[in-house]
Amino acid sequence: MIAQLTNILGTNRVKANVVLAPYTSFKLGGPAEYYFEALTRNDLVKAYEASQRYGLKLTILGGGSNVMIAQKGIAGLVVRNLYKEKEILDDQNNAVVLRVSSGYPVTSLVYETVDAGFSGLEYHLGLPGTVGGAIYMNSKWTKPVAYVGDQVVEAELIGSDGTVKTVNQAYFQFAYDFSILQKTHEILLTVAFRLKKESKEEVKKRAEETLKQRKNTQPFGVFSSGCFFKNLNGKSVGQLIDELGLKGFSVGNFSVSDKHGNFIIHKGDGKREDLEQLLSVIKSKVKAEYGVELEEEVVFI
Ligand code: EPU
Repeated sequence: MIAQLTNILGTNRVKANVVLAPYTSFKLGGPAEYYFEALTRNDLVKAYEASQRYGLKLTILGGGSNVMIAQKGIAGLVVRNLYKEKEILDDQNNAVVLRVSSGYPVTSLVYETVDAGFSGLEYHLGLPGTVGGAIYMNSKWTKPVAYVGDQVVEAELIGSDGTVKTVNQAYFQFAYDFSILQKTHEILLTVAFRLKKESKEEVKKRAEETLKQRKNTQPFGVFSSGCFFKNLNGKSVGQLIDELGLKGFSVGNFSVSDKHGNFIIHKGDGKREDLEQLLSVIKSKVKAEYGVELEEEVVFI
């Protein structure tokens, strides 16, 4: 299979049995059966074609910041999306339309747009992961409420018939922790954001304030996947977990963050069964105390 994939994707570009843990922020998980790094739009299109031709399951990995990869790994072709490109499509007096590729790291994009005095993405400073992941999840900030999907004008996707199509914002059905990509599994190539022109100082002030709040309330520089569970009707699950006295609670090398109850920290070299045990304690305590079922925000693959 490596030979066939190489024919389509290029010499020395496809590897077998590549451990994926280093490519995730949680640093856990088994190998990809076949692994390929996409650097261009064409790489993504070709990877899709190769997966179709050989009947391989296709998994696109962005920044790996919101995923939990199984110990047994992922069958088929895993594509790490490193496609990084951006271009101004339209430049008016008070706004620009900026097209960005799906493998673009969100925080670099925010720094660059803030620096240019473009407003609309500044509340996402400090968000890990790529633009593709942020669109798939419709990543958010809450103070004030701002979703990555809010600024979207249009996007290019590889549709389920393999052709590239352009869709508008409404197509995504953006909602809390939701975009239609979670159902269609179409591959995002690029997305165009409409950003307002503003004084650079003002935009920068909001971005810096967001980052400060993020650092004050969430753990940084540790192995985590952001918030592990979805909030419940706007109620902070971190707060619920905190009120149960579970901050700092550990099983093996995993623990509930001391800083935010919805973050699980991996101290390194952890066993998947210990993580499962920790999750099950959290879920059953929340269920017993509040009568609600927690739902993972992190995507298990
Ligand atoms: N709180 C506690 N204890 C905790 C955590 C929170 O008492 O351990 C309290 C806070 O003091 C505050 C309230 O709960 O009064 C809300 O906390 P926070 O502002 O941290 O927001 P959240 O609802 O817990 C959501 C998102 C975060 C996002 C923040 C900030 C979800 C599941 N979480 O958290 O998203 O960064 O708002 O906008 O929707 C993520 O998606 O990975 C993520 C971390």
